[in-house]
Formats: sequence, C-alpha cells, structure tokens
Amino acid sequence: MSLIKTISLKPLGDERGSLIALEGNKNVPFNIKRVYYIFNTQQGVARGFHAHRNLKQLAVCVTGSCRFILDNGKQRETIRLDNATKGLLLEDLIWREMHDFTPDCVLMILASEYYDETDYIRDYATFYELVNG
Ligand code: TYD
Repeated sequence: MSLIKTISLKPLGDERGSLIALEGNKNVPFNIKRVYYIFNTQQGVARGFHAHRNLKQLAVCVTGSCRFILDNGKQRETIRLDNATKGLLLEDLIWREMHDFTPDCVLMILASEYYDETDYIRDYATFYELVNG
C-alpha cells in the first residue's frame, strides 16, 4: 500500500485566474488549528527529518516545487509537489523529509493541532524502534 495520499484541490477558476479554498472537515479532512509556510529555502537545504505522533497535516506547494520523502519504517516513497492543486495528506506515524526546494517554493502546511514540540519524533532510530519494535 502506498504511503502517499494526495487530495486533488479543485480550483474555482474563471477568466480572472484561479482560487482554491481550503475548509476544515470539508475538503481538508481534519479541523485546521494552524497554518504555516516555508519559503526562502536556501539551495541544497533539506528540512523535516521528523515524524509526528498525533498531528495530521496537509502540505501544498502554493508556488514552486519541492520533493517529499515519506517513510513508515518499512518502505520509503517520494513525491514531488509541484502544483497548487495537489495536497499531500500526512496523517499516520510517518517520517517525512523535504528536499529539492526550488528558490520560489512556498510550501504551505495546514495542521490539526497547535505547535507542540512533544508531538515530534526527531530521531530516526527512535522512530524506527517505535514502528518496528
Ligand atoms: P522545524 O521543526 O525545524 O522545521 P522543519 O522540521 O519543517 O524543517 O521548525 C523550525 C523552527 O520553527 C523550530 O524552532 C520550531 C519552530 N516552529 C514553531 O514555532 N511553530 C511551528 O508551527 C513550526 C512548524 C515550527
């Protein structure tokens, strides 16, 4: 089974251009408590390198692109987010890394909870032990 769950976000376009609306418990399958975005990522920088115990997230590259690596301790998969209509759903205990940010990349993340450092697993060995141990 693939680790990659994507949601197709329907643009409400007309002759003026496009608009995408994200609504908690509607096209986003959780209650949205927090939004953050990652931008100005320097060349060669990779981010993430953690898993979350409970948090659900939806990642959308609003502009530019980046590549996600997802890892459940058994398999590893990669997906390039390169379109504002493509949402990547992260809802299980999954290790995530983000690589290959284009200079114009704005990666927006919707999250189901407020920021909580205790929800993070930042050590791969700890993560691996938790899912395989
Ligand atoms: P970090 O978790 O290192 O980013 P990433 O894993 O996506 O590469 O976050 C960078 C800093 O920002 C770190 O000091 C924690 C802080 N932070 C918040 O204060 N609130 C947030 O919602 C997030 C995501 C991070």
